[in-house]
Amino acid sequence: MDYRDVTQRARGKTQYPVMKTLRRALLVLFVLFLAIQLVPVDRANPPVTGDVDAPAEVKAILERSCYDCHSNAVKWPWYSYVAPVSFLVAHDVEEAREHLNFSEWDKRNESKRAKIREECFEECEQGEMPLPIYLIMHQEAKLSEADLAVLKAWAGVAGGSGAAGEDNETDD
Ligand code: HEC
Repeated sequence: MDYRDVTQRARGKTQYPVMKTLRRALLVLFVLFLAIQLVPVDRANPPVTGDVDAPAEVKAILERSCYDCHSNAVKWPWYSYVAPVSFLVAHDVEEAREHLNFSEWDKRNESKRAKIREECFEECEQGEMPLPIYLIMHQEAKLSEADLAVLKAWAGVAGGSGAAGEDNETDD
């Protein structure tokens, strides 16, 4: 091996490996990104069995701020078609529906509904709902003081039981 050979190699090693490694890493990431697009994501909207029974102004708030997770009428946004964000969105919707589904209101008895109404107001008042991460892309879903007042009044319709009903909860 002659001297020039060695210096050229040494130079090659000091100047280019970073670029090369970076290019390779990007390529691997890109291939992975393409590959995960093939993982199926369930974006189905099951049939609405019984829509929530609420005054129009309440309904408008729920539809605007909650239905993209807590209903069977989810408007899947464009980013719900791009993995890995799609996994996150689908998972949130699945979990949200499990807890509370305004499109399957008929499956809850009146005492459970009363409890849900209360929880809705409480979660919203505390800023837990709508999920803060959702608000980044959906400013229109933010609740105003007026919206909160409407939800509060709706929760108050809870058969007058208020928080008193909390202990004898039956988890159907
Ligand atoms: C981006 C999705 C998303 C949106 C939008 C959203 N939620 Fe939720 N919600 C969830 C998820 C996920 C859970 C379950 C996990 C948790 O409690 O954080 C949940 C839980 C809840 C619970 C608790 C139910 C229980 O059984 O504990 C209530 C009440 C609730 N949401 C009300 C609302 C209301 C009211 C709105 C609209 C003002 C809303 N949510 C908007 C995703 C969402």
